[in-house]
Amino acid sequence: MDNSIFPIHFAPVQGHTDHAYRSVHSSIYGSTFRYYTPFIRVEKGTPRRRDIVDFKASLEENLPVTAQVIFRDMEELEILINSLGEAGAKEIDLNMGCPFPLQTARGRGAAVIGNTPLVEKTAKMIERYPDISFSLKIRLGINNSDEWRSSSDAINSMRLHHLTVHPRVARQQYKGETDMEEFKRVLEMTSHHVIYNGDIRTPDDVDRIRKRFPEVAGVMCGRGLLARPSLAMEISSKKVLSIQDRISMMLYFHSRLLSHYQSTLQGDTQILMKIAPFWEYAEAEIGRKSWKALKKASTMPKYLTALAGISVESDYCI
Ligand SMILES: Cc1cc2nc3c(=O)[nH]c(=O)nc-3n(C[C@H](O)[C@H](O)[C@H](O)COP(=O)(O)O)c2cc1C
Repeated sequence: MDNSIFPIHFAPVQGHTDHAYRSVHSSIYGSTFRYYTPFIRVEKGTPRRRDIVDFKASLEENLPVTAQVIFRDMEELEILINSLGEAGAKEIDLNMGCPFPLQTARGRGAAVIGNTPLVEKTAKMIERYPDISFSLKIRLGINNSDEWRSSSDAINSMRLHHLTVHPRVARQQYKGETDMEEFKRVLEMTSHHVIYNGDIRTPDDVDRIRKRFPEVAGVMCGRGLLARPSLAMEISSKKVLSIQDRISMMLYFHSRLLSHYQSTLQGDTQILMKIAPFWEYAEAEIGRKSWKALKKASTMPKYLTALAGISVESDYCI
């Protein structure tokens, strides 16, 4: 299958895909079609300054980055679009998929998709910003996979660059079966370019999606790319790396990110809090023993000892 131009989007993942991660990832692996900021929200009437700073840092480095926003009404959406527009955003992704109860209980994220009047208002609101390209990321609903259907006309009426679909409901969070039959229905009912998102971990997973749904315009990977940061590179270069080469590159990636945090943060505790999640999804790559040791490490010396336990027998040159 020709994967050279098939777009792989790096999903937004809170606590992981900040500017430093995006920047170092892009400089080592390239190949990722687009990065997304974790969702930016309104707090006390304005977006958090550090979220805007984080987004702008990627823009200034010319990374292909889209700012993602989460909102519960038009007032919040307008504040977010205006602030991001001022910050230089040319692309904005609308989050209608977040399953975190703190957000859905307040009517944001996945709670929006079944709220058809709000989806309709969103469609109207984005018409006011012709210079910004919008995309939308959805789940199928909160409890049932058919909840999105009531909003399908409103979604079709939106001026969107693409629609990303994670075919689970919020109740499942990130576990359990994806509903591929309902995903097929989205493909049938929508007029937008559709990006598939969910449980892509290997180049074969991408091939499977493309074979089953040839009309899919790209895939978005979150945990799969965090676990295997070379995934998009392997797909676009059509060269699957050995596990040792992948680990070797990942250790190099980690060392660059750690140096960055060491030069920008104060104290081991803060640095450890930022760097330790790097391995969260990598158990299958680095092995259970190393993964557990890294997870358990409560101090920097213990963390570095655990890191040294990851076995590498690679001569891969970066
Ligand atoms: C800890 C965590 C944080 C996430 N944060 C966001 C977010 O800020 N915005 C968003 O659209 N999705 C977020 N997601 C969802 C991912 O973007 C993605 O849709 C989900 O992980 C499924 O894709 P995957 O199986 O490739 O990981 C988050 C997921 C996790 C596990």
